[in-house]
Amino acid sequence: MQVTKTVDDTRAIIKAWKKEGLTIGLVPTMGFLHEGHASLIRKCREQNERVVVSDFVNPTQFGPNEDLAAYPRDFERDSQLCESLGADLIFHPEPEDMYEDPCAYVSIEKLSNNLCGLTRPIHFRGVCTVVSKLFHIVAPDRAYFGEKDAQQLAIIRKMVKDLNFDIEIVGCPIVREEDGLAKSSRNTYLSAEERKAALCLSRSVARGKEVIRKGMKTEVLLAEMRAVIEAEPLAKIDYVSVVDALTMENVDVIDCDVLVAMAVYIGKTRLIDNFSWQLPQER
Ligand code: PAF
Repeated sequence: MQVTKTVDDTRAIIKAWKKEGLTIGLVPTMGFLHEGHASLIRKCREQNERVVVSDFVNPTQFGPNEDLAAYPRDFERDSQLCESLGADLIFHPEPEDMYEDPCAYVSIEKLSNNLCGLTRPIHFRGVCTVVSKLFHIVAPDRAYFGEKDAQQLAIIRKMVKDLNFDIEIVGCPIVREEDGLAKSSRNTYLSAEERKAALCLSRSVARGKEVIRKGMKTEVLLAEMRAVIEAEPLAKIDYVSVVDALTMENVDVIDCDVLVAMAVYIGKTRLIDNFSWQLPQER
């Protein structure tokens, strides 16, 4: 497995692979890899002849009061995991390798305004900018993203469509701890007491699935899901919403495929979780 830090070194390797006609898969990450990332790397390994993992804590997607400096990092452990999963290359740049007084940004309008975009106004602009840069540097055939970040996945699909990137976007299912908590690098911030409290997110998701299956109204669904979280004293809801799966706009009546998504503070740590719901097919 090779490790590169600069754009030029990465491009040289990619160019040689392209010359050989090899297919390339990209797994963009911010490092501190866990089983969720491992599932993306495994899928990428299955579907491509060369596997690139980017490992870069992207400063442009963090707001001024967010956890950029504290964001967990462990490149040694990340590279061991990538090697064990059969990755061919880790691209691990420093911020100055990626950004030099930047003036160009990529913003996907509308879809970025709701849900996490409400409390993190520059977040998706930063994500789309760095993902576009990675797409240009690595020129992959396929790129892999987790469904835990469902809004991010919808935005990246729209970006790829609108900007004609010739890349297949592969979404991979949420990976959970045995007790249901969705895997996240941010789970490491939780104290033992908060870790227990954080289970209210997956319990709320489970309750939501029960309610939606019964065909209840959106307001009942949201009230039931909120009640599960509100019963937990350490939890504070940022949002619990039902949105159109493609546009990310709130829906009052579930007459399209939807994403039911939440962000919840457990102490100071903001966690997200979600589930998707497809309208039953008419016979
Ligand atoms: O999902 C993430 O870890 C990040 O938002 C991504 C896609 C790697 C961009 O920095």
